[in-house]
Amino acid sequence: MKNEIIIIYKSKTGFTRKYAEMIAEEMSSDGISCTSTDYKAVKIDSISDYNIVVFGTRAHAGRIDGYKKAKQIFQESRAKHFALFVTGATPNTEKKIISDFWAQNLSAEELSLIPHFYLQSGLCYENMCLSDRLMIKAASAMLKNKKEKTAFDNIFEQAVSGSYDISSREYIRPVTAFLKQYVTFEA
Ligand SMILES: Cc1cc2nc3c(=O)[nH]c(=O)nc-3n(C[C@H](O)[C@H](O)[C@H](O)COP(=O)(O)O)c2cc1C
Repeated sequence: MKNEIIIIYKSKTGFTRKYAEMIAEEMSSDGISCTSTDYKAVKIDSISDYNIVVFGTRAHAGRIDGYKKAKQIFQESRAKHFALFVTGATPNTEKKIISDFWAQNLSAEELSLIPHFYLQSGLCYENMCLSDRLMIKAASAMLKNKKEKTAFDNIFEQAVSGSYDISSREYIRPVTAFLKQYVTFEA
């Protein structure tokens, strides 16, 4: 029999790893086999043993970090289903920014076929690599001189002034509810 769920996470500053671990913990506490693992340790054969592969990663300059590679690994494996969650500094209340983000990153077919979830997280300068710090610094400098700012520009300007954490266990609920329903339906 196949194992149920594997959550593969790509996490630079820790938010995505934390969410992946919370989801795995919550599923396991309901008696559903669910494990979380760093994408660096993932081999095609090792994920073939699972029914559902969930890829968790961060939003990075408007893109889903590592999405193409993760989807390719899934497609080359014998795992049956694929789902996605993305963490980001944008608050959940910014619905338009988040729906534009999905539309810019997933095709119409992917939007309808791949279950996808956005989880607000925050920013952690302490764990950020130098290139990411520089990227934020350069974007902030550019924004200072921009005349017509978008909603995201304004949020970005406010957000990048320091580290903050707006993650919460409550935000995993749509993901765990979906996974539980899926497992029950498949049984
Ligand atoms: C260079 C850079 C670009 C980012 N771009 C976005 C973005 O486009 N949208 C967003 O909501 N958050 C953005 N963020 C915030 C990260 O997505 C957020 O901190 C994420 O949870 C980090 O995940 P991790 O801690 O697992 O690495 C960005 C952060 C950095 C450092």
